[in-house]
Amino acid sequence: MTQHTIPPVTPSPTIPPAPLRSRTGVTGLEPGWTVEDSVDLYNIRLWGKGFFDANSKGHVVVRPEKIPGTEIDLLEVVEGLRERGLSTPVLVHFSDLLQRRLLDMHDAFNTAIKENNYKGDYVGVFPVKVNQQRRVVEEIRQYGSPLGFGLEVGSKPELLAVLGMTSDSAERLIICNGFKEARYIEFTTLAAKLGRTIIPVIENLTELKLIVEMGEKFQIRPRIGVRVNLSTPGAGRWRHSSGAKAKFGLSYAEVLEVLEYLRARGMEDCLQLLHCHMGSQIHDIRQVNQGVNELARIYVQLVKLGAGMKYLDVGGGLGIDYDGSQTSFEFSTNYTLAEYAATVVYRAMSVCDEEGVPHPTIVTESGRAMVAQQSILIFDAIGANRPDRGAVPAQLPALKANEEELPRPLVELFDTYKSVTERRLIEQYHDACEARDEAGRLFSLGYLSLEHRALCDSIFWATCARIRDKCREVEEVPEELEDLESLLSDTYFCNLSIFQSLPDIWAIHQLFPIVPIHRLGEKPTRKATIADITCDSDGRIDRFVDDRDVKKFVELHDFAEGDRYYVGAFLVGAYQETLGDLHNLFGDTHVAHVKHDGTGQWWIDEIIEGDAVRDVLNYVHYDLNALQAQIRRECEKAVRLKQMTASESQSLVRLYESGINGYTYLEPESNIGN
Ligand SMILES: Cc1ncc(COP(=O)(O)O)c(C=O)c1O
Repeated sequence: MTQHTIPPVTPSPTIPPAPLRSRTGVTGLEPGWTVEDSVDLYNIRLWGKGFFDANSKGHVVVRPEKIPGTEIDLLEVVEGLRERGLSTPVLVHFSDLLQRRLLDMHDAFNTAIKENNYKGDYVGVFPVKVNQQRRVVEEIRQYGSPLGFGLEVGSKPELLAVLGMTSDSAERLIICNGFKEARYIEFTTLAAKLGRTIIPVIENLTELKLIVEMGEKFQIRPRIGVRVNLSTPGAGRWRHSSGAKAKFGLSYAEVLEVLEYLRARGMEDCLQLLHCHMGSQIHDIRQVNQGVNELARIYVQLVKLGAGMKYLDVGGGLGIDYDGSQTSFEFSTNYTLAEYAATVVYRAMSVCDEEGVPHPTIVTESGRAMVAQQSILIFDAIGANRPDRGAVPAQLPALKANEEELPRPLVELFDTYKSVTERRLIEQYHDACEARDEAGRLFSLGYLSLEHRALCDSIFWATCARIRDKCREVEEVPEELEDLESLLSDTYFCNLSIFQSLPDIWAIHQLFPIVPIHRLGEKPTRKATIADITCDSDGRIDRFVDDRDVKKFVELHDFAEGDRYYVGAFLVGAYQETLGDLHNLFGDTHVAHVKHDGTGQWWIDEIIEGDAVRDVLNYVHYDLNALQAQIRRECEKAVRLKQMTASESQSLVRLYESGINGYTYLEPESNIGN
């Protein structure tokens, strides 16, 4: 991955207006359709939470500070990147939006603290695993420092990165979760000696012993945290993060054992932090309420037993309202950030007050909620399969010399196709299905020619399309025909890898808002699922945000070959970047970090170029020199054998070399061979 910073500010007005309309004449212009209709259709304002909207040109805009008018036009960004030689797919980060999120979290907790007259502080720590990209972590450190934010790590690589980049902020909290061996603990102990506010959270008793030993060896009293496994049942997809079968955390008995072990060495004051993690994307506020209550109950008991408790760490889990429904659906949340903060603060306070225990510093490890909104993945459509556009002839083909009659299913299908009427929709659908099945049977027995079989298929789909169109006109669609819309939906082939860029769609059926970033003033006339360019049928998106349910297709605009049509996957800043893999050797996409000055002027602050083919081949241990030498040798041999001319062989050598340095994704506008 190459990386370079573009130092001078490049204001947006230098970028020429993007081609708004299709050059090839495909339009979705429908009188009466407005940008507002598109905003409603895609629920942009519901999941956008003030950060996303559309402008009068019909382009999606980002409002990093949620202030109408101070916004960045996404299409301008994409066109600006193209001018700099960077094609889609591209991941666009909005630094100012990230900063706004940190401020929002800080404000929400501070408001809750003030309103409840809570005596303790709030510290947000960012779990680095949620987005380890250097630039993102640096920004969180930079914007979070004045707000008192810290960082959380879960492995040695994360710890070493964080230790190296936080030397100027020794007082900022570093929380170390995850499994730890002696070396990891040596790092945390020496970092503490260096003056860092670092707290290893023990996951098992072996770690505790190592921490105590290292403390003795380096003559330092360590700060220690303990992760408890709550009995409050989890909810949603990550419900197993707590409860009897949880992977992490100590039982109540083990927590007491930790305290006794420390007390026996006069170190009970070292136990300062109590941590739990109730699961990610908690969608129901009642779970937060119950979990914090249980955690606070343990906390007050530990204080009474003599531990030096200071921090109540409620872990991560603050959710994102991916579909904008603000319900307890698993990809939504039935609470707001303010309500979350108020619940945590109030619960912790009431338990402590009941037991006469001083209010602790509340720590959250919210990751998703900090970074999800700041990134958008933008990709281009490269083609489409439209099953309802099969050509049906005006008449059935004439009989050939060796034919006595046309096959029955073909004739029946054609009759059904011609006579589709609103009054007999179900019956005609059954007729079409039966005839199509019969055609399949005859073909497998060798009684139907390939031409007739193909014609049967085309007529079948065209009949379904007619029935679907009639369904759109009737008041109530018969249940049996409800699936016709998705059955007939297009497949839009798009230049991305789900496995690399949106792995949670594949792994856990995550919902992200998927929206075209332009042409919103035109009615999207097609219903489509999205297929990526990997050779894997799992590489598709077929679940989309809806206001009441999950849709099996998304409305997109028609486009013709040569048109540029860009689609954005929103709220993708959490977990997607490093969880992605190299399936088919599609590598990291380009990343652009965009900033703005609050007056509508934006610039690209940093570009991190995506993987070149050479990067991914190196990753899987190919010797590029050997590969190139082999191609050159083979070309020479072909010239010798007069299979190719010398200049053709040179073209292939050059093409191979430029391919090795090229993007792993499709580059439709690349000048191959030059
Ligand atoms: C210990 C711990 N803290 C924090 C987080 C971040 O959770 P989230 O991104 O849901 O806030 C996780 C993620 O699973 C975690 O395991």
